[in-house]
Amino acid sequence: SNNIVVAIDGYSSCGKSTLAKALAKKLHFIYVDSGAMYRAVALYFLRNNIDLTNHEQIADALNNIHLNFHSRDYKTHITLNDEEVSDEIRQMHVADKVSTIAAIHEVRVAMVKQQQRMGKSKNIIMDGRDIGTVVFPNAQVKLFMTADPKIRAERRYKELLPTNPEITLEEIFDNLAHRDYQDTTRKESPLTRAEDAIILDNTDLSPDEQLLFALSHIE
Ligand code: C5P
Repeated sequence: SNNIVVAIDGYSSCGKSTLAKALAKKLHFIYVDSGAMYRAVALYFLRNNIDLTNHEQIADALNNIHLNFHSRDYKTHITLNDEEVSDEIRQMHVADKVSTIAAIHEVRVAMVKQQQRMGKSKNIIMDGRDIGTVVFPNAQVKLFMTADPKIRAERRYKELLPTNPEITLEEIFDNLAHRDYQDTTRKESPLTRAEDAIILDNTDLSPDEQLLFALSHIE
């Protein structure tokens, strides 16, 4: 097929989804937030007390999980078995567990399969940790995003504070650092830059500047 895939990977809270959404809007591509899928799986595992050492339970759980995206207004709306969970998956109880659950082999196999299906015939932009390396190694455009960890924590803090007045900057900083550690050191498809990915450090870049940078590499 001759559809175009743009893969965006990088550390936690680097602004991947902000850039991906802006690009999708500009190019009229479909945007897929792969992190939301892992978060929804984590939410299901938490709610159902899945024993992470029990492979049978994990396989059963994955068979019972049905995820769907609804792209209204380029916001990610994800449903878990027809329940809208877009807000709940952003909460700290999910953020605290998601990287552990995303490191499980069966979880990755199931998600990658669904992700590859979504990119089969449509022009899409997908962001995550292993999109340019594992999910779409042949993506025409690959970006690898990074930014100063303090700036990243501050951005996420501002985002979460309105709905989580109790949250602290320190708690968020620690969560990001911990997830980055887990995501880069896990055995299966660790976060790493694909050799052909363009590095985008957005510490000092506005969203518009990032969009222009990305577009200049897509033309
Ligand atoms: O992108 P986001 O921060 O929402 O992702 C949440 C978590 O999901 C990441 O910290 C990572 O553990 C996992 N993830 C992954 N592979 C992806 C996307 C996300 O392992 N492609």
